[in-house]
Amino acid sequence: MHEFNFKNRRLYCEGVEVEELAEKYGTPLYVYSYHTLIDHFLKLQNAFLTVSPLICYSVKANSNLAILKSLVDKGAGLDIVSGGELKRALKVGCPGKKIVYASVGKTDKEIEEAIKAGILLFNVESEPELANINRIAAKLRKKVKVALRINPDVEPKTHKFITTGKLTNKFGIDFKAAEKILYSRSNFPSVIISGLHLHIGSQITESSPYMAAFSKISFFIRKLKNSGINLEYLNIGGGLGIVYNNETPQTAQLYAKKVLPILKETGLKIIMEPGRFIIGNAGILVVKVLYNKDNPLKKFIIVDGGMNDLIRPALYDAYHNIVPVKQSGRKSQVTSRKCDVVGPICESGDFFAKGRVLPQVKEGEYLAVMSAGAYGFSMSSNYNSRRRAAEVMVVKDKVFLVRKREEYEDLYRNEIVPA
Ligand code: LLP
Repeated sequence: MHEFNFKNRRLYCEGVEVEELAEKYGTPLYVYSYHTLIDHFLKLQNAFLTVSPLICYSVKANSNLAILKSLVDKGAGLDIVSGGELKRALKVGCPGKKIVYASVGKTDKEIEEAIKAGILLFNVESEPELANINRIAAKLRKKVKVALRINPDVEPKTHKFITTGKLTNKFGIDFKAAEKILYSRSNFPSVIISGLHLHIGSQITESSPYMAAFSKISFFIRKLKNSGINLEYLNIGGGLGIVYNNETPQTAQLYAKKVLPILKETGLKIIMEPGRFIIGNAGILVVKVLYNKDNPLKKFIIVDGGMNDLIRPALYDAYHNIVPVKQSGRKSQVTSRKCDVVGPICESGDFFAKGRVLPQVKEGEYLAVMSAGAYGFSMSSNYNSRRRAAEVMVVKDKVFLVRKREEYEDLYRNEIVPA
């Protein structure tokens, strides 16, 4: 469900026509719907009401300050993975006590800054990292709360690049090693191991992988309790899948119904870290058609956005629905063609769609690449010395520019030519 809808054959974001936005702000342009964003957050919050979880939005999905601020104002916490994301979290006024910090490679500086910010929990991914946090906490004369990130070795049934909860992945600590750490916790006097964390992957559309992972961890928690180790938090990660094409992902309600009995059994305070579920369908990428180019084998629509703006198709062969922002007539009257939608970048992997049947579009018309809110702008780059796109947020009939398009000077601002 989202607030990108056609009215009189024109695509609107909430109360604003997308073509108007493209004309005013230029393309490629990211457009976000404030109400879709908040709606998705509230859906999850309502579904889990009985355990009143701390929902820490996963900043990596889309780290624009306006998006973070909108969610923090509604009570969300934030899930961060770097010093940069910590800075963003603090910049929008997220209380330290609502920040959780994962990442297999936290540096000393990042650990120190996070301790000073008084974050709620480090999600610790290895024993050497735990020892390092303990050392830095001791130096700062602080006692720091951590959760051990467990790698439960379950198959999340998603793309292999976004699978994280198998032992072939670099993430988390296996149960045996975690148990060993917990029994030897007195070796780490400046940390309090007060929780467990897991995140098994992303774009997970079924509840069975979650059930498998949560059952395993619940069993582990019981075992620990029996040996006198009591924890406070269970962080169940993110990963909830959304509709890109014809998937039928579990709804928040259905997910909650399935997993709540297992979660309640643990008696722990629940934290979760959704990213895509909240922002994925709250954003689109608008691009302009530059050229229609046919060769004897193929038809191409060349647009002004590329893999530097949205890398998901190139990286994961991900499907994004693509629609002209203006529908030109009755379906029966429109000529459709099978084509590739490609960008201007000098790589054959620079495509948004392959072999897609689309209505014939003219040069200068705009296309919307749907479901681009998550891992769109946040994974964008300056490849081919392209300026990163502008971003706008729509709130009913109001439009806010939430990131200016980069200037050419931004491209080489930090470069130095030796004399
Ligand atoms: N927590 C942790 C520890 C994570 O690593 C992630 C995502 C999340 C939460 C949020 O997951 P979500 O709810 O958004 O699925 N670039 C890929 C997705 C990478 C996900 C990385 N970790 C994509 O475009 O599909």
